[in-house]
Amino acid sequence: MKNILELKNIHKNFRLGEDDIEVLNGIEISIQQGETFAIVGPSGSGKTTLLQIIGLLDSPTSGELYVRGKSPEDLNDKSKSRLRNEFFGFIYQFHHLLNEFTALENTMMPLLIREQTTKEARTKAQDLLIRIGLEHRINHKPHELSGGECQRVAVARALVTSPSLILADEPTGNLDPETADRVFDSFLDLNRSLNTSLIMVTHNQELAKRMDKVYELNFGKLIKSSLEN
Ligand SMILES: Nc1ncnc2c1ncn2[C@@H]1O[C@H](COP(=O)(O)OP(=O)(O)OP(=O)(O)O)[C@@H](O)[C@H]1O
Ligand SMILES: [Mg+2]
Repeated sequence: MKNILELKNIHKNFRLGEDDIEVLNGIEISIQQGETFAIVGPSGSGKTTLLQIIGLLDSPTSGELYVRGKSPEDLNDKSKSRLRNEFFGFIYQFHHLLNEFTALENTMMPLLIREQTTKEARTKAQDLLIRIGLEHRINHKPHELSGGECQRVAVARALVTSPSLILADEPTGNLDPETADRVFDSFLDLNRSLNTSLIMVTHNQELAKRMDKVYELNFGKLIKSSLEN
């Protein structure tokens, strides 16, 4: 099977005054369609930096990155942001939903931005919200929802554009363990049925173990974690 994403010998250094901090030191990743991937590692080890590079939101200092076999380096800014919008979905620790809009409207938003018709957007958004267990909360605004429910809306919003790869940075990090588990269950179910690939940063070892592959980021390198089955 073909890799949808490949990273080869990725390095990232940050310059801070006189100092050069090496955060990523030769990262190699290959991911196939549908594969799920957990990244664990201590605070400050570079997990968010790595997701930013994968999601084309930051550039590596050196190394190669290929999306569907092509290097985004060769694209102009407009094509790069189009690729980013089509290929990736993003989920963060805090949901970043828009407060003045309902769950349904928040989920429809990425499609409306892409100039899909309101009718199409509504149908797709409704379908995903129902599948993630929010049928009874579709017309609620974020402040009328629980933390777990808001995070489910964030999952629906990330999946509504049918991305190939979801990048999730501590998506359940803000929830109590039981809620985190429930939200993650429905997220993973939905993800599997849509055959979306997933790279998830998490501190939760139980959640990490349920992914196909588990890697630990430490001292700038990705190594296979003993958590992987
Ligand atoms: N723009 C920047 N300029 C300078 N240093 C940076 C910058 N962004 C990140 N760093 C440094 O890079 C290192 C990795 O940061 P990163 O946010 O990727 O860690 P992380 O693994 O996501 O940590 P956490 O688990 O706490 O979220 C840290 O030491 C941080 O201070
Ligand atoms: Mg981080």
